[in-house]
Amino acid sequence: MVNNLQDSVTLNNGVKMPWLGLGTMERTISNKSIDAIKYAIKIGYRGIDTASAYGNEADIGRAIKESGVAREELFVTTKVWNKTHSSDFTLTSFDESMKKLGLDYLDLFLIHWPGKASDEELLDTWNALEKLYRDGIVRAIGVANFNIPHLKVLIEGSEIKPMVNQVERHPLLNQKELHAFCIENNIVLQAWSPLMLGNLDNPLLVELSKNYKKTPAQIILRWDLQHGVSAIPKSVTPSRIEENANIFDFELSEEDMQKIDALNNGQRFGPDPDTFIP
Ligand SMILES: NC(=O)c1ccc[n+]([C@@H]2O[C@H](COP(=O)([O-])OP(=O)(O)OC[C@H]3O[C@@H](n4cnc5c(N)ncnc54)[C@H](OP(=O)(O)O)[C@@H]3O)[C@@H](O)[C@H]2O)c1
Repeated sequence: MVNNLQDSVTLNNGVKMPWLGLGTMERTISNKSIDAIKYAIKIGYRGIDTASAYGNEADIGRAIKESGVAREELFVTTKVWNKTHSSDFTLTSFDESMKKLGLDYLDLFLIHWPGKASDEELLDTWNALEKLYRDGIVRAIGVANFNIPHLKVLIEGSEIKPMVNQVERHPLLNQKELHAFCIENNIVLQAWSPLMLGNLDNPLLVELSKNYKKTPAQIILRWDLQHGVSAIPKSVTPSRIEENANIFDFELSEEDMQKIDALNNGQRFGPDPDTFIP
């Protein structure tokens, strides 16, 4: 059982990744990111999720430096934005991200979207991640927004299996089948938009929040952890950053877990990987 904010899941290569990390994608410019990240690190968050597409890697790098916490205590994820799927493009994108972050190694590098890439193109991009991993500059590699057929291309066509698959996942889109496939293949599922972008007024979640004396956000994040799903809720609001981390002092009953599972109706708040072209 996960007991605190720094507890980690062991990836299929032995590297430890915090179960709960901080999401950092700003949909509107708030200029609050640096302070938010520093606050999160101060209260114990160790995982930070960014991407070249978010345009905030330099801010993340600055926040890490100013946090006063040793680099090796942090787990930093970034992603290549796949306008193009190719090894060269990916390696160049990685170098640019690292310059902006100001880091000399990365914890987790992800392919951001499969898009409409052919199997060969996906494998070409993946080969770049494998090279970075083998070179030791990235501690773990993975994908985002990969459905089962996309994952099969990598699993069957390459030597190194992804360690993480980061996908949209919340009570309305619980990704049960994809999660089962990831478990079978020793890939950790990580939930993006775990809080449904703040749409938390679902009657069941509100009822459970009263029963457990927790907020709907805490109920969802606890449901993720009890399912063995990592989550990266985003907030730039200190009280919410704290609220989202305060999920280690209660446990949802099996019956309530199943009630939340039953909310699934396939609703997405973000793009569908089968149709989205980055
Ligand atoms: N791989 C991908 O393709 C992909 C796609 C989307 C997102 N992501 C990653 O996943 C992270 C999380 O996803 P997300 O940002 O889309 O959505 P989210 O975490 O589900 O929701 C973030 C929104 O919820 C609000 N919020 C946070 N905590 C709250 C709480 N306790 N109560 C009420 N509202 C709360 C935030 O507001 P404030 O910030 O104003 O407090 C923000 O508006 C992203 O930031 C990004 O790092 C990855």
